[in-house]
Amino acid sequence: MLTSRIVGTGSYVPEQIVTNDDLAKIVDTNDEWIRTRTGIRQRRLVTEEGTSQMAAKAAKRALEQSGVKPEEIELIILGTSSQDYCFPSGACEVQAMIGAVNAVCYDLSAACTGFVYALNTAHAFIKAGIYRTALIIGSDVLSKLIDWSDRGTCVLFGDGAGAAVVKADETGILGMRMYSDGTKGDVLICGARTNGNFLLGKKPELGYMTMNGQEVFKFAVKKVPEVIRQVLEDTGTPMEEIRYFVLHQANYRIIESVAKRLKVDMEKFPANMEYYGNTSGASIPILLDEMNRAGKLNPGDKIILSGFGGGLTWGATLIQW
Ligand code: UT7
Repeated sequence: MLTSRIVGTGSYVPEQIVTNDDLAKIVDTNDEWIRTRTGIRQRRLVTEEGTSQMAAKAAKRALEQSGVKPEEIELIILGTSSQDYCFPSGACEVQAMIGAVNAVCYDLSAACTGFVYALNTAHAFIKAGIYRTALIIGSDVLSKLIDWSDRGTCVLFGDGAGAAVVKADETGILGMRMYSDGTKGDVLICGARTNGNFLLGKKPELGYMTMNGQEVFKFAVKKVPEVIRQVLEDTGTPMEEIRYFVLHQANYRIIESVAKRLKVDMEKFPANMEYYGNTSGASIPILLDEMNRAGKLNPGDKIILSGFGGGLTWGATLIQW
């Protein structure tokens, strides 16, 4: 069966660590509140780097591991909601930075579900026989969209990038599902920075991220188990066969709740938000790369990737490693 296989992973996080105690100096919060509500202890934040530079660094590591040369890449999809420019796309910038001269490149906007959407989209191209080799990236610098005086959001997020090289093969992605609900767009939203209007005499204003945390929480713990069950049902895969559930790293309590609803042991739900916070579209590929480099993924292992976020968007992919 023609499908798509991940043949290399890479990730990158900025050097600068910002702890919960550091944030307690700028907003009315504390380490205990953040840790117990989210599982986050610290995050990495950029100083000089942008979304595309981080994406290119993660991409280079994935390419190196895969042995695929930049000029062999036919498609680059960057899942991001924090592009450095309105245009050119971040994917085109990555193309220039890594020398992927033969690739078609574009960004995909699905917030924290960006990597899963991008991977599934590349898979569809590969399955249709249009491309054979793709580079998928999730990269976000949400620190530039955050209102740093809003304790309800600023303690949650971090910056980072993760990437995967995907090739046509006989084994790999076994199934996938994606969903969107545009009627709930306002529960997790970031205003554009290009909202000026000449005729109305409106100057462009800075847009910041705002979130209804409890609504996002409820949505995630309902929809993630649902979409995972669907993918398993589509492919006739028993839940017990899944070695790991690699979920978007937003909040440890969300992961615990999903595990409980699926009746699966927490041992199968790796987590690293403790160190990086919620890195949006980058969280799944960063975790996947860490697991891969730690030798935790063996050929034949079945793993689920599942993301959820603004849009609202959510989805899952079943992979045989
Ligand atoms: O990629 C998807 C991104 N989004 C998410 O994953 C968000 C999902 N939602 C969540 O993770 C949780 O809803 C939060 C962690 C955001 C909040 O936890 P919660 O248990 O839903 O808290 P809450 O919003 O009900 O707030 C409880 C209290 C409030 O105070 P009062 O009204 O009870 O006096 C908040 O003002 O906690 C207060 N609070 C804080 N206190 C200390 C809110 N943020 C903070 C803070 N530090 N940073």
